[in-house]
Formats: sequence, structure tokens, C-alpha cells
Amino acid sequence: MDIDTGRFTFGVLTMSDKGSRGEREDTSGPFLLRLLTEQGFQRKAYTIVPDRVERIKETLIAWVDEEKVDLIVTTGGTGVAPTDVTPEAMVDVIEKEIPGMAEAMRAESLKKTPNAVLSRGKAGIRKNSLIINLPGSEKAAKENIAVLLPCLAHALDKIQGGTSDCGV
Ligand code: MTE
Repeated sequence: MDIDTGRFTFGVLTMSDKGSRGEREDTSGPFLLRLLTEQGFQRKAYTIVPDRVERIKETLIAWVDEEKVDLIVTTGGTGVAPTDVTPEAMVDVIEKEIPGMAEAMRAESLKKTPNAVLSRGKAGIRKNSLIINLPGSEKAAKENIAVLLPCLAHALDKIQGGTSDCGV
């Protein structure tokens, strides 16, 4: 049985020092907003924050604990530059990690670019919400989210206690 994506709200969080100061247009965030809306998810939140662990943590925690956003997709700050701290913020936010999601994105991305291994993005669960880190460029965000789109509704259903059979 297909799970109705319209049951789930989503938020997009862009990590960018320049973007947060209005010095660079965020194209990855709006792309993800369009894509997930087209997939039927209900848009609930979108913002740009600088690459600061505390700012990322407080935004993710507020979206989960207060706004009850079901699915949060982040873009940016997953790499190896000194400013890239998205995974470090995730460590303090998620309660369960889902390594397979990040592994699958990196494995699929490696077919497109050797730089795929530089993304340290994580995916995990906090309370009833799923949080997924994507790299920052629109191209990378698009290629990475494409890997997970087919399993998002089932993942959210399970995270929220759904009892549908997994084998079908
Ligand atoms: N994955 C895919 N599919 N396509 C890409 O173009 N870019 C890589 C990698 N993953 C890329 C990708 C690059 S160049 C970097 S530096 C890392 O993601 C981290 O990106 P971020 O620091 O913007 O999060």
C-alpha cells in the first residue's frame, strides 16, 4: 500500500555563511522546497543559517521539538572545509543514526564524482522526525536526495510507529 506523503510536513535548512548574510543566493534550498512539494510533502519551514554548530543545533531542535516538522533536509556544511560543521551539530541533535541513508548517497554519488567521499553528511532520527544532511551545491543536493526519495515515506511512517508490512 502506498503511503500518502501529504501526511508529512517538511523543512529545508540551508547552511551558508554568505547566504545567511544575503551575499549569495541560495538555489539549493528553493530547489529542495520545490522538489519535496512536488512529491506531496507539506512545506512547513525554510531558513538559512550560518555555519555555526550552535545555530544549526538550535534550529534543528526547535523545528523538531516545537514545530513538529516530520522531515528536515539540510543542505551544505557537510564537507572538509574549516567552516563545515553540519555533521558536528547533528551528533548532538539526533537520537538514532541511520548510517545506510548517508552510505547510499555517498555510494551513488561516487559514480558521478570522486569528491563524493568528501561529504560527511549524516541522517538520523530525533523524536518522531527524520533529519537528512545533503551537500551544499544544487547539483549535489539534487543527486543526493534522488537516492532517498523512494524510501522517504516508508521511513517516516516507520519512525512514527506505522505498523505496515515492510516486505511489500
Ligand atoms: N555528491 C554529488 N552527488 N555530487 C556532487 O557534485 N560534490 C561533493 C560532495 N558530494 C558532490 C557530491 C563535494 S565537491 C563536496 S566538497 C562535498 O559533497 C561536501 O559538500 P558541502 O561542503 O557543500 O556540504
